Amino acid sequence: MARHASPLCPLLFLACATALWGFPFRPTLDLDVTPRITVLSNGLLGCRRFSGEALNYSSLLLEDTAGVLYVGARGAVFALDTSDIAAPGNNLTIEWEASADQKRQCLNKGKDNQTQCYNHIRFLQRYNETHLYVCGTHAFRPLCAYIDAEHFRISSAFEEGREKCPYDPAKGYTGLLVDGEMYTASQYEFRSTPDIRRNLPYPIMKTEEAPIRWLLEADFVGSALVRESVNSSTGDDDKIYFFFTERNQESTPYFSQTKVARVARICKGDWGGQRTLQRKWTSFLKARLVCSVPEYDFHLNVLRSVFVVEDQIQQKTVFYGVFGLEWKNVKASAVCQYSIADVQKAFEGSYVESEHSTQNWAEYTGKVPDPRPGSCITNQLRAKGLNSSFDLPDDVLNFARRHPLVFQQVRPREERPLLFKRSVDYTKITVHRVAALDGRLYHVLFIGTDEGWLHRAVDIEGEVHIIEELQLYEEPQPVDALVISQLQRSIYVGSPSGVLQLPLSTCHRYTSCFDCILARDPFCAWDGARCVEIASVADRSNLTQDILNGNTGCDSNTGEDAAVHGTRSVMEGDDVLLQCELQSNLASPWWTLDGRELQGYGLDSGYRIGTDGLLIIRARAGQSGRYRCFAVENRVQVLVGSYTVRIRPDLPPPTPPRVAMTTTTTKKRLAAPSSPPALPPTSDPTEQPLPSPPSPPAPLPPGPEFQTFRNMETMYISLVVILGGLCLVLTVVLLYVAFCVQGQSRGRKYSLQGSRTERKRSSHMELKTVSSHCNGKREEPGHRGGGGEDTPDGLLQIVPGEGQASPNKDPPMAAPPLPQPPPLPSSEYVNGLSATLPSVLRKMNGNSYVLLRQADPETTSPLYHSFTDELNKILEKRKHNQLVTKPDESSV
Ligand SMILES: *[C@@H]1O[C@H](CO)[C@@H](O)[C@H](O)[C@H]1NC(C)=O
Ligand SMILES: *[C@@H]1O[C@H](CO)[C@@H](O)[C@H](O)[C@H]1NC(C)=O
Ligand SMILES: *[C@@H]1O[C@H](CO)[C@@H](O)[C@H](O)[C@H]1NC(C)=O
Ligand SMILES: *[C@@H]1O[C@H](CO)[C@@H](O)[C@H](O)[C@H]1NC(C)=O
Ligand SMILES: *[C@@H]1O[C@H](CO)[C@@H](O)[C@H](O)[C@H]1NC(C)=O
Ligand SMILES: *[C@@H]1O[C@H](CO)[C@@H](O)[C@H](O)[C@H]1NC(C)=O
Ligand SMILES: *[C@@H]1O[C@H](CO)[C@@H](O)[C@H](O)[C@H]1NC(C)=O
Repeated sequence: MARHASPLCPLLFLACATALWGFPFRPTLDLDVTPRITVLSNGLLGCRRFSGEALNYSSLLLEDTAGVLYVGARGAVFALDTSDIAAPGNNLTIEWEASADQKRQCLNKGKDNQTQCYNHIRFLQRYNETHLYVCGTHAFRPLCAYIDAEHFRISSAFEEGREKCPYDPAKGYTGLLVDGEMYTASQYEFRSTPDIRRNLPYPIMKTEEAPIRWLLEADFVGSALVRESVNSSTGDDDKIYFFFTERNQESTPYFSQTKVARVARICKGDWGGQRTLQRKWTSFLKARLVCSVPEYDFHLNVLRSVFVVEDQIQQKTVFYGVFGLEWKNVKASAVCQYSIADVQKAFEGSYVESEHSTQNWAEYTGKVPDPRPGSCITNQLRAKGLNSSFDLPDDVLNFARRHPLVFQQVRPREERPLLFKRSVDYTKITVHRVAALDGRLYHVLFIGTDEGWLHRAVDIEGEVHIIEELQLYEEPQPVDALVISQLQRSIYVGSPSGVLQLPLSTCHRYTSCFDCILARDPFCAWDGARCVEIASVADRSNLTQDILNGNTGCDSNTGEDAAVHGTRSVMEGDDVLLQCELQSNLASPWWTLDGRELQGYGLDSGYRIGTDGLLIIRARAGQSGRYRCFAVENRVQVLVGSYTVRIRPDLPPPTPPRVAMTTTTTKKRLAAPSSPPALPPTSDPTEQPLPSPPSPPAPLPPGPEFQTFRNMETMYISLVVILGGLCLVLTVVLLYVAFCVQGQSRGRKYSLQGSRTERKRSSHMELKTVSSHCNGKREEPGHRGGGGEDTPDGLLQIVPGEGQASPNKDPPMAAPPLPQPPPLPSSEYVNGLSATLPSVLRKMNGNSYVLLRQADPETTSPLYHSFTDELNKILEKRKHNQLVTKPDESSV
């Protein structure tokens, strides 16, 4: 993929850039929706976990009224109690592993003994009142069996599963068992062509392969029965819809797109033709599913998961699709919503036909035989004596055989994704409809990621707000299955390591009224004292909720009592951290000093604002006063902390200094030439050529310092040169790695718009990059000298905004160059507050620090860039386009 992508980069970049600067954006689509709250796995509430001996818990079958969750895993089927899947004694197990002999045969076929030569349960559904039907890959020889649900045991001889279940446990597959009929779709064997089948009852129905293949390397993600016969005025049939991604055969302007997302349907009453299309679907039609960002003409064309939200009124049935990119090294996901009515409309439109000789697919404008090819048997046809698919004339069937694809594309609601998220690959989606206090029905989306996170989001009039992101597992692993129990108000998650049960909502997590309202969780409302589940409250008269706006209903002084109050008394010249931890990733801090907005967050102001607090750098007496921190979110201001700060005049520096680790203090006193260069902490052993820790700085000796400076200077310069060289090598290696290795560094991709945890997790690396020699080497040695009293640029090298050049242009002469900032403090601050610097500096005033990003402006020439970086850059710019006037100004 990388080979394909790299030549495309400049083109795509150009195209996007043109779009970017060409016209103002519609303000509607946020290209990276930030989850409001981040919950790590140790903070999950009400979580129950089940895991037996087996692995790969990827098939879930919920029988809500019976209170049973059936789980198909690798080599076993479980029946769990839905009220508590972890309750001991409430689990039943059927062990069904492939025999040793079968495994040996599998190995002889050259299959992977770690994954493929096991019995992965792929199909698990209710067959009749008493029995379930189950199929497993059975070490590359699929088998199926009936399970007696009451006694929970396999009740029959094993049946051949070759036509029903794929051989490969990882192959895209979907199956349905309705009214005793079994529909499956997959590429069953490695070399076979993909197929949509009806396996039960006999005769087996299939898709056509000649003269036109109806399915091209299709990768199936889902299927759904829509009962369109119910109350149909036209005597329509029930339909089964299949969702998949396949190879793109149409010629499109998007030359890079080799794949295309599709929806296909068949009629349930289809029994194939009499002479033509014998035992082949006469009602097969497929259409393209479009999920694209119109502003960029940017298409997400790999369908990962679908969920159909059925409505009583069949025309109102909608479905959600999760889409990704076909480039494996780029993570980005979108959620699009479609209506079944639009799909039906597309299937009634014109067909696509390939012109002979060329592979040019175009709209077919010629004559269409009657009755319309690909339709179900309806009253209109019955009136013509066409009672079943057997009665359809040959010319109709011949046409149908050559025209499986319709011209009209199925476009999403609002013509754009409801949700776009970069740096994340969603794997599964499920949707729950819930009535909120305002009487409206909201769709709550539960979306699992490839790394074991669950995003809980709500569709508010076409905008998706991510209420929270939950880390389900300490070990990253894909979410393989999601089901919701209405009765238990739980969601069950299947993954490689086990099954997990979570409540649909945890309202008590929100402790204040504002917290409860700002969350915009349709399940939750404020009752005056607590945030409660509205479903558990009988009298809803004094509940408050605001899903639509997410900011009204609380008195302005609520929450004040939850604020932190404190007093700080520090020496002049010290650094002070005033903590102001914002729970919400959507909130930004706003500080006042003695009631006035804190002025000048700029470089020379002496203040740094992060999402964790305010850092007063080298405090001056004039900065004493009452500091108050507010969280500003959704136009609501909530007091979080209030501090009285007293700054006393500086005394002669004490020995030894109070805290060696306090970054800026160390630096200020580092006018002392005797102190060794402080190096950034490196977690990477390859980056550890100079492991000298900073020794406590000593008071200034006034005498022979100049000579020492000279020596130090040459030493530092050579050091810098060496480090620069080293860095160049490293950059080349890194670039090479970035090109060749598909998996990209999360730290870079996530940058600062990623989730909060990601930022937390990667902050160390980010800061390391800040202080890495790559940035340092290009500055003149004297540039960041420690002598300039008002130049904080030598301290942390954090520049707010999009990386404008350092403001200090006059290199001070006297002081020795300070090649590196001191190590990041992991210890206490002078003022006794415990905080780690990286998290303080994650975000500043809503801006990002370009230097925090791994992408060094000088190394981001498009030529040296993988598509990942291009895409991320484009998306990033979209976010910051108000802030930047020209791309990469700083790199010139
Ligand atoms: C299943 O239940 C048995 C008791 O019947 C218990 O010993 C076992 O730990 C349970 N298994 C799991 C994985 O919870
Ligand atoms: C799989 O095969 C490898 C080498 O072919 C072997 O080292 C390993 O033990 C095998 N694993 C299992 C579970 O059989
Ligand atoms: C359900 O199907 C199984 C397997 O074919 C059969 O043995 C059983 O009698 C059926 N039960 C009912 C109630 O039809
Ligand atoms: C099964 O689980 C193992 C271990 O987590 C994982 O490596 C493998 O990819 C899984 N296989 C499937 C088919 O999900
Ligand atoms: C079908 O029509 C009947 C009677 O008009 C009505 O009671 C029922 O709810 C309808 N069913 C659906 C699925 O619309
Ligand atoms: C279709 O069914 C009707 C009544 O069910 C029957 O009278 C007619 O002959 C059938 N037509 C064909 C072509 O079988
Ligand atoms: C209204 O809220 C208060 C909490 O302040 C609660 O004590 C009271 O019972 C609620 N009233 C009703 C009618 O539910």
